[in-house]
Amino acid sequence: MLTLSDLVVSFGGNKVLNGISCTINEGETVGIIGPNGCGKTTLFNCISGLVANTSGTIALRGVEIQALEPHERARRGLGRVFQNFGIFREMTLLENVLLALESNTSVISGFLPWSKKTKGLSNEALSYLEQVGLAAKANEKAASLSGGQMRLLEIIRTLALGSDMFLLDEPTAGVSPRMKEDVASLIKKLQGLKKTVLIIEHDITFIQKFCSRVIVLNEGVIVLDDTPEKVRADSRLKEIYFGSDAA
Ligand SMILES: Nc1ncnc2c1ncn2[C@@H]1O[C@H](COP(=O)(O)OP(=O)(O)OP(=O)(O)O)[C@@H](O)[C@H]1O
Ligand SMILES: [Mg+2]
Repeated sequence: MLTLSDLVVSFGGNKVLNGISCTINEGETVGIIGPNGCGKTTLFNCISGLVANTSGTIALRGVEIQALEPHERARRGLGRVFQNFGIFREMTLLENVLLALESNTSVISGFLPWSKKTKGLSNEALSYLEQVGLAAKANEKAASLSGGQMRLLEIIRTLALGSDMFLLDEPTAGVSPRMKEDVASLIKKLQGLKKTVLIIEHDITFIQKFCSRVIVLNEGVIVLDDTPEKVRADSRLKEIYFGSDAA
């Protein structure tokens, strides 16, 4: 699905990503962990096209995309879930999902009369909201949602956009424990839909619920790439977080 080859990102001579190579298979859910500032968000920025890589290649389904603009990558199915600004706060929940559905080129409604089309889309948008328990709030402004509910709306919008690869950057940051479970079940739903999910998280116990593979980044390189159990048991993990004495 996605192959990164020797990816380098430098900011003014400072190599934030220093030769990242890995393959993410279709339908896989992969956790990405690593200390603050190790390059996790930069990796997502680079995959989605917000940051240009200095060297190396990014291939999506065998086609190199590193020269493409972010919207062109999105059209190919790359869904970046932005923290805090992926939704339109002054619009209602329904409008937020509708907007995503209208940009989804695979939603075939082109031949329907306008009234039927909007009604059909509204029903579809509602069904997305139902999936995350937000249908009752369909006509409220997104700004009225809690942090966790906004996160659910962001992810469901990305689904409505037609994305098949999800880049989730700390989707549970600042989210209540109960909502954290809701985010977890939504991720499981994405798995059921055979979506490919990359998720940055600090809490390995949380991602272990749905990830069979965890990549550990440190100082811009991949240190470990294994099952959560093997990663947790590896002394290098403690070394990275607590220094060599702890190992
Ligand atoms: N646009 C930029 N220009 C210059 N330096 C940047 C830029 N973006 C990120 N950096 C630097 O790159 C390094 C990695 O940042 P990044 O945000 O990718 O880390 P992270 O692993 O996501 O950290 P956190 O866990 O705190 O979110 C940091 O030192 C950061 O200051
Ligand atoms: Mg980050």
